[in-house]
Amino acid sequence: MYKAPRGTSDILPQEQNYWKYVKEKAVLVCHLYGYQPLTTPIFEDSRLFSRTVSGGTDLADKEMYIFEDRSGQKLALRAEGTAPVCRAYLEHGLFNLPQPIKLYYIGAAFRYERPQAGRYRQHHQFGYEALGDVDPALDVEVIEMAQQFLLSLGLPKFSIQLNSIGCELCQPGYIKSLQQHYSNHIADLCPDCKTRLLKNPLRLLDCKKASCQKIAETAPKITNYLCPKCQEHFQNVQQGLKTLEIPFQLNHRLVRGLDYYTRTVFEIEPQEEGSQSALGGGGRYDNLVEQLGGKHTPAVGFATGIERLILNLKRQKMEIPPSCKSVAFIAYLGEGAKIEAMKLASRLRQAGIAVIKATGSKSLKGQLRQANSLGTNYTIIIGEKEVKNQTVVLRDMINNKQDSVSIDELVLSLKQNNPPRIISQIHSQPPDMI
Ligand code: HAM
Repeated sequence: MYKAPRGTSDILPQEQNYWKYVKEKAVLVCHLYGYQPLTTPIFEDSRLFSRTVSGGTDLADKEMYIFEDRSGQKLALRAEGTAPVCRAYLEHGLFNLPQPIKLYYIGAAFRYERPQAGRYRQHHQFGYEALGDVDPALDVEVIEMAQQFLLSLGLPKFSIQLNSIGCELCQPGYIKSLQQHYSNHIADLCPDCKTRLLKNPLRLLDCKKASCQKIAETAPKITNYLCPKCQEHFQNVQQGLKTLEIPFQLNHRLVRGLDYYTRTVFEIEPQEEGSQSALGGGGRYDNLVEQLGGKHTPAVGFATGIERLILNLKRQKMEIPPSCKSVAFIAYLGEGAKIEAMKLASRLRQAGIAVIKATGSKSLKGQLRQANSLGTNYTIIIGEKEVKNQTVVLRDMINNKQDSVSIDELVLSLKQNNPPRIISQIHSQPPDMI
């Protein structure tokens, strides 16, 4: 038996209403804040990720899905959404438009991680990026938007962790002090942190091993090393959050798992017991566009994992609006009635009414059982008598009543009571979900 690859999952019909719910809230918040959708390819030149998320991060070293296509080009499955957005920003000359450019995406990301609850090899991110503006008010807006999105989902229990990791001017001085501090404790470091000490010292701070955490407690704080501009930026971000009454916690050990960040970094942690994984994270990446060959373009953004959001919605037993169901089930008895049922189903569908028609030659009891399990509002029954009279039996499954009605009457009354839905009301996958 084939199974979905480890760390991936099928999203079954009964799960789709959660996805539809989350995506609708995402699209709504993006509309409110003026973000436009962008869909990027599911694979890119592998260097886009390996160069931008950089060496020393787990993502660059161990987690990318890299493959060669038949022409020998090295490609990578999309590992995250920010670098592709920057690539598209440059490729399509979006820097020529008035800045900032605000874009959002909903799509799959692939990371070869050890699968566990809330951590998958294929997950889906909702993310948004504002490119081309250094104003700390934009950092505040991006954080506010994340907060408003989570609140709109009905997930009020989270904390916003905030830090600044400085810029290319002030970070090297801090890293030197950090390396000095950790060198004094080298014997107690885990093997990964011994490598981090050389390759990616900032990541020493968020090692989860107890012995390393102890060393982190006494480590120097980056906020004491910020240059005057980064200091001012960080103060303004905090001030903006206070003005909007957005609660946050300063966390000097927050450094994020990707290497492109500068200045503001933030993460959203769920406050549910037992859930340690971040609901989302983001920050500034003022040098990323330049690193990809563009002009200096300050930018800031955020992304959240949809599977983790749904996990939290379920944990909190959130009531999600049910998916659209078919209006009626059409049952029939006998060969003549089967043909009438086929014609009726076609007529109703053309009138915009969603129906499911029985198939094969099941007993009426079997067909009614099927109608019950589908949960349609009506069952339409056609027998030999109804074929002769051009009528049907219309059974109202909710009020437990039934009537004999003419076919013309049936179409008219179902149409009046069930106006045709527009596609976006029905489909859980908007076109940007790739
Ligand atoms: P990230 O923190 O690597 O940041 O991922 C963002 C979110 O995606 C995480 O907080 C988590 O909710 C979800 N996520 C990440 N990996 C997995 C996984 N293996 N399984 C399930 N969910 C996962 C970024 O990707 C940045 N591009 C965010 C950003 C946007 N920064 C600036 N703009």
